[in-house]
Amino acid sequence: MINIKTQVGIIGAGPAGLVLANWLRKYGIASVIIELRSREYVEGRVRAGLVEQNTKDILKELRLDARMNKEGIVHDGVYLSFDEERIHIPFGELTGGRTISIYGQQEIVKDLTDAWLQEGGELHFETKATKIVDFDTKSPKIYFEKDGEEGIMECDFVAACDGFHGIGRKTLPKKSFQSYDITYPFSWLGILAHVAPSTDELIYAYHENGFALHSLRSEMVSRLYIQVDNDESVDNWSDDRIWSELSKRLATPGFELEEGPIFEKGITPMRSHMIDSLQSGRLFLSGDAAHIVPPTGGKGMNLAIADVKHLVDAFVDFYSNNSEAKMDSYTRIALQRIWRAQDFSNFMTKLFHKQDAHGSFTYRLQKAKFDYLKVSRAYKTTIAENYVGLPFESFEI
Ligand code: PHB
Repeated sequence: MINIKTQVGIIGAGPAGLVLANWLRKYGIASVIIELRSREYVEGRVRAGLVEQNTKDILKELRLDARMNKEGIVHDGVYLSFDEERIHIPFGELTGGRTISIYGQQEIVKDLTDAWLQEGGELHFETKATKIVDFDTKSPKIYFEKDGEEGIMECDFVAACDGFHGIGRKTLPKKSFQSYDITYPFSWLGILAHVAPSTDELIYAYHENGFALHSLRSEMVSRLYIQVDNDESVDNWSDDRIWSELSKRLATPGFELEEGPIFEKGITPMRSHMIDSLQSGRLFLSGDAAHIVPPTGGKGMNLAIADVKHLVDAFVDFYSNNSEAKMDSYTRIALQRIWRAQDFSNFMTKLFHKQDAHGSFTYRLQKAKFDYLKVSRAYKTTIAENYVGLPFESFEI
């Protein structure tokens, strides 16, 4: 039997769990992380690469932004395209200087893991949390299995940062929350390709064949997506077919899409999932364990890290001031931002995906929104401030 004792027991070594551990350490609060997958798997997992201003500020405060500053690419705007017409949303100008950076989520995970381990942090990979018990008492416990051996982690609090399929959400007592789900009738086929991006900033496009997104990872690697049916298989999508579809959907006068060797292809379903309580006793949920947004807007990791900010505030208040007030308001505070992001991601999804026949009423509403965007600074500002992420002060704390 392996025995671990700590203050905050963390399940999951994704962005939420790792930011939490690194941040708590700055305040002298001890934590231990257990992670189901191997280090190679977690660090190789391809996810979005959009880092909001708030996330950048947090990584800076934790002094974990050195590689991001060197290798990440700052974007001061985004292109939105509809029926082959394109407009630009300048973030800095519309939001008082806030921007995003393009830097892969798995690169952040690598930086956070290195930082945690280098200073002696405890992180057990390939360790399966099997049970969370006694979270309605002052000494919750996480049971786990590592290399065939059973273990128990005794802690003051459990932070479940273990994703949508993790044990955290399953453990939350059914009667303590209500859930909300939307499944969208389309998915994203995403590729990574060895080719210089054909654009300086991201392009989100509506086309009568469906949505397309041109993103990137570096000066040599492009990340692109197209809307496909939910039952699609990557086997139906040869490289030629993907490039030809992307060229059509991203087309605007004068734009040329460079093609290159594709080295990663995958299909992502799109869903929204919410629960209205992120806590039960001394069990707290953060990140994908608590909410899923569709990827249109790149909010997933940023929301996870924003949850953790509120959780850190709550733990610090508890250990420094012996106060549980911030813990009790964790759900209420975090949900304000999560619902805002849920709405924005849903809005962007509906604006740029093909939902009904080209020319239908739904299409005409989408087009009316785009036409309004062309002429209204106020509407552009709405998109800009949500896209870069509203400052923490915008929400009641
Ligand atoms: C990405 O770069 O993977 C990305 C960017 C923006 C999104 C979604 C994904 O909205």
